[in-house]
Amino acid sequence: MTNEPENIALAASVIRNGGVVAFGTETVYGLGADAYNDAAVKKIFRIKGRPSDNPLIVHVCDGAQISGLAAAVPKNARILIDKFMPGPITLVLNKRGRVSDAVTAGLPTVAVRMPSDKTALAFISACGVPVAAPSANISGRPSPTTAKHVYDDLNGKIGYILDCGECAVGVESTVVDARADVPVILRSGGVPIEQIERAVGKAALYTPAQNQNVPPSPGMKYRHYAPKAAVLFSAFHSDMRKTISAYYDRLAAVGVKPVILCFDSAKRLYGGRETISVGGDNADYARRLFAALREADERNFGAVIAEGVSDKGLGAAVINRLIKAAGGRII
Ligand code: TXA
Ligand code: MG
Repeated sequence: MTNEPENIALAASVIRNGGVVAFGTETVYGLGADAYNDAAVKKIFRIKGRPSDNPLIVHVCDGAQISGLAAAVPKNARILIDKFMPGPITLVLNKRGRVSDAVTAGLPTVAVRMPSDKTALAFISACGVPVAAPSANISGRPSPTTAKHVYDDLNGKIGYILDCGECAVGVESTVVDARADVPVILRSGGVPIEQIERAVGKAALYTPAQNQNVPPSPGMKYRHYAPKAAVLFSAFHSDMRKTISAYYDRLAAVGVKPVILCFDSAKRLYGGRETISVGGDNADYARRLFAALREADERNFGAVIAEGVSDKGLGAAVINRLIKAAGGRII
């Protein structure tokens, strides 16, 4: 890995000079800029083609940086910070005046995350400022979980990629509005909802129909994670594999080249049909999901049919990403 101190120092100097750097975290690669430099932050939106009403997560390396960003750290937020940071969680908190509207898209809140990846932490620390960063993909594409994914999307548009290897978690952080007595999960992710509930007693799942006291995550309204291939997502049920095989055969018959995303153990149940393995359990599926969607494009498959999973542990995040990638095509 190219995470020697010189590389970290070089990447940090780009940030301090108002540039943009892609860096790995335990969830996905981020595209970072100095969170206190508006001109630098605006570059991120341009490079990604990201709508300016979709706020960025601000990455920190310690508690002092959280205090610099958040106007207050309420009780539940404190519990979640102590229990899950550094780690794949993002907390939405009321922001201090110093945090600009360029980062927060005009919201009165700021999303704060402390990654656990060692290189990412060392990088943020070397920057000396919090680092605003969305996932380092072109908007709408599957999030990058290797430096190569970033290169494939952003080659020629950014000056530096800090290679941190393959992301250990593989799906983005869980976004939690931690201000209220009952925290609200705005996006499922790397910390399973069950663990958050265990820590704070009770958590609510944000649904668009919910009362409007809680500002939603603006990012949820956009199409996401989509490869070029059409994605079909199967609900998780006992006949799932029969349904998937039938869809596969129908697509193949009309000349679309389909591929099935499935666990290793299911591969043989699909006979000679093309498959891409997502490992043996929900955590493997999460880690390999985005890479599998990109692989399907590289191998010129015209359709991806993804197996459903139970919503236990990281399964909830996998299901959420696949439903979005499928754009509603649920079989
Ligand atoms: O794991 C992650 O969270 C990765 C890595 C790079 O840290 N980052 C990431 O960023 O997934 P992005 O921009 O792809 O997704 C951030 C999500 C968006 O849905 C955005 O709307 C939401 O967080 N968000 C950001 N600030 C917010 C705020 N103040 N209130 C509510 N939602 C917010
Ligand atoms: Mg993203």
